[in-house]
Amino acid sequence: MNIKNYRMQVLDASYLHLCRGNIDKAAFIINSGGLVVFPTETVYGVGANALNEEAVAEIFKAKGRPPDNPLIVHAASVEGVIPLVRRFTVKARKLAEAFWPGPLTIILPKSDIVPDITSGGLKTVAVRIPSHPIARALVNVSGVPIAAPSANISGTPSPTIARHCIADLKNKVQIILDGGICKIGIESTVLSLAGKVPRLLRPGAVTPEMIREVIGEIEIDKSITAKPDESQVAVSPGMKYKHYSPHGKITIVHGGDAQFYAFAASHKRVHILAYDEDIDQIRDYMSYGPKNDSEVHARLLFSALRAFDDQYAKTIYARPPYMDELGLAVYNRLLRAAEFREIYL
Ligand code: TXA
Ligand code: MG
Repeated sequence: MNIKNYRMQVLDASYLHLCRGNIDKAAFIINSGGLVVFPTETVYGVGANALNEEAVAEIFKAKGRPPDNPLIVHAASVEGVIPLVRRFTVKARKLAEAFWPGPLTIILPKSDIVPDITSGGLKTVAVRIPSHPIARALVNVSGVPIAAPSANISGTPSPTIARHCIADLKNKVQIILDGGICKIGIESTVLSLAGKVPRLLRPGAVTPEMIREVIGEIEIDKSITAKPDESQVAVSPGMKYKHYSPHGKITIVHGGDAQFYAFAASHKRVHILAYDEDIDQIRDYMSYGPKNDSEVHARLLFSALRAFDDQYAKTIYARPPYMDELGLAVYNRLLRAAEFREIYL
């Protein structure tokens, strides 16, 4: 089949046992060198056979992604990961036992079967076993590792529902598997085991505390909190690019409730991202959940950023997420969306 002539289909993937036929179609596309958008527990991914250079090249093209920004390779089991890396280390094994399948990506020196295009020219490869049943079924039925970055155009917020993927990648992929809303809502934690000391490159739902409990001390990469141009060498190439941005200009506004309400009242014709509890105090705003619930903030943040675009929002003021460990990962995304603009009332 010539994959180029295939008309894009959006297929139901809400319940694994009901949509097995759709998984088969999607696996067929993967094996034909095409692109499939699929749900994971973090965000939607746009996937191709990680070992097929031409198919992987199509991912970069569809997303408009710079070629030096490497992809995460998804496997269904540790057995599927082992051929991709030079050595599956003791620490990797411990982390796999503790957190896989789940939202943790591990970086290790790559084996020769992983094409350079998949790893963005690096000698390392990022691997993850997702826990979402559709993602796992797709990898299993395809029988190949699947390279999949988030299913958005480079620079826009990662997609957490199928509609976001359709908006960004319509007719650039062959199949979109619609599995409803992604449970976590922000991308996986990225941890490098390629250097001497394990290094956190991107915070996510598997928090530093959780990782330390399993493998001891880890370093936190500067790029997580510093502006990209301040960290001289970006270890994770993805961190140097502008990220998650809606078209409007976001500013994070720190401060107590009363101060924020006064601030909101004195700013007309702006858009506001705040909490459920603010409903009686702010006239027109978008909520991303209860004030102290970073899980809900994680799930709703990217949808909210996209919704501001739908409203053609130009100026957006955002209250920060609740700052527990997961909240720090949410804050990391919001800070990038805000291009590091923050004010303290
Ligand atoms: O939750 C997720 O991780 C989602 C789902 C689909 O699995 N995927 C995802 O992929 O967020 P992507 O490509 O949007 O983000 C991957 C990040 C990028 O910042 C990239 O630079 C970094 O991981 N990365 C990938 N391979 C790397 C490597 N070998 N060394 C350093 N950083 C790497
Ligand atoms: Mg991404």
